[in-house]
Amino acid sequence: MKELDIKLADMHCHILFGVDDGARDLDLSIEMLRIAHEDGIRTILLTPHFHPKRGMASVDRIYDAFIILRDKAAEIFPDLELYLGREVYYTSDHAEMLEDHEELRICGGRNVLIEFSTGTPADYILRAVDNVIMMGFTPIVAHIERYACTIGNKGFVEEIKNKGAYIQVNADSVLGENGFSVHKMVKWMLKNELVDFIASDAHDINHRRPELSKCYRYIAKKFDEEYAAYCMHDMPLRILES
Ligand SMILES: [Fe+2]
Repeated sequence: MKELDIKLADMHCHILFGVDDGARDLDLSIEMLRIAHEDGIRTILLTPHFHPKRGMASVDRIYDAFIILRDKAAEIFPDLELYLGREVYYTSDHAEMLEDHEELRICGGRNVLIEFSTGTPADYILRAVDNVIMMGFTPIVAHIERYACTIGNKGFVEEIKNKGAYIQVNADSVLGENGFSVHKMVKWMLKNELVDFIASDAHDINHRRPELSKCYRYIAKKFDEEYAAYCMHDMPLRILES
């Protein structure tokens, strides 16, 4: 297949080894980077969980793993750029940590990738978004299509956007791999350009692989190529610089 003209950017994945339920060791991290690189991805934001069940590795441990992976990746894939962020499981305690713990924010900036349990009610998520914004940060709601309250609830998605939060969707949901109703909702969000980021959320090399090109082509064909670039290139690069 013809190579894409654009260099893709994946802003949510669990490729960093030994720190959460993603890559278990350095070899798997490198294998995941190889898959991403072959897929045309040249910028990756590593987002280990900050989650009581999926991963609460210390700041030092995460940073040490990041330096090891970044140095190794520079030897093998010199044109691949790696950055470090977190996927923060929202609780009011975690929100209170944002100001003093810059490692919980994307590249230490003002953007925060927040996630919830799949059964979290809409009003809780809306209050969480308000809370993060009130603290002076911009929430990016991770894989919004995975929350039961999102499906069929167009008003909820519009309200999140109107509050000033960003919305992230997983690439496999765009491609219809998480069921009909999720796909239908995601297509509605894309048609109305409510999605800001599309990412792999890759945890390994089987389920949810670190790939975006198929999704990029799908959106370019079914919706608009500029919008595909917005979600998988322009916006990811923008938050890395802010
Ligand atoms: Fe994730």
